[in-house]
Amino acid sequence: EVKASNSMWAYKDFFIAGVGYTLLISAISVFFGFLLGAILAFMRLGHNQIARSVATAYVEFIRGTPLMVQLLFIYFGLGVVVNIPALLSGIIAVSLNSAAYVAEVIRSGINSIAVGQTEASRSLGLSRTATMRYVIMPQAMKNIWPALGNEFVSLIKESSIVSVIGVKDLIYQSRVVQADTYRGVMPLVITMILYFIITFGLSSLMKVFERKMNHD
Ligand code: ARG
Repeated sequence: EVKASNSMWAYKDFFIAGVGYTLLISAISVFFGFLLGAILAFMRLGHNQIARSVATAYVEFIRGTPLMVQLLFIYFGLGVVVNIPALLSGIIAVSLNSAAYVAEVIRSGINSIAVGQTEASRSLGLSRTATMRYVIMPQAMKNIWPALGNEFVSLIKESSIVSVIGVKDLIYQSRVVQADTYRGVMPLVITMILYFIITFGLSSLMKVFERKMNHD
């Protein structure tokens, strides 16, 4: 789609679409990242040695390799066997990556609760599960929620890597606008401002919730 004007305003729909994809990918990925991350965290904290090893290996491997390689592997590597569309590949890669980081957030949130809490609860006769559910988790969530918010903010920025496989996120759109207008800097400035509005807005919102949570 070629536009006659090179004014940035004429390209607002591109930027809007980019923000949409960026938010979509980040939100879906933080959701699935949380689900898988929670499973991984409990696998690592549990007593099953095989589950522990699998979860530890997963977390270490994902955190020890670049998200970019993981993304390329899912899109091009698995692409040899099954053809996964770019957007779906991007969501899968970012979700699988996020899960490893979220697993550590949850695990450290739970580990930060003093053992005395578990000991007291167990000696009062609560089962292992009840202790986790009614004593440990309510306290751990106070550490976990803010960290999950931070992960969402990270994903807003880190998800920009999906542009390398052609997903039409904010970075991808800035390239399109650059190519279309022959303007190198202005699209980047707008892109930076848009990212900042999103991340700053999100972390301000989080602060409001955190304050509410600490008051009751
Ligand atoms: N950019 C780094 C990488 O490629 C960090 C990814 C961070 N991921 C996350 N879910 N917070 O590995």
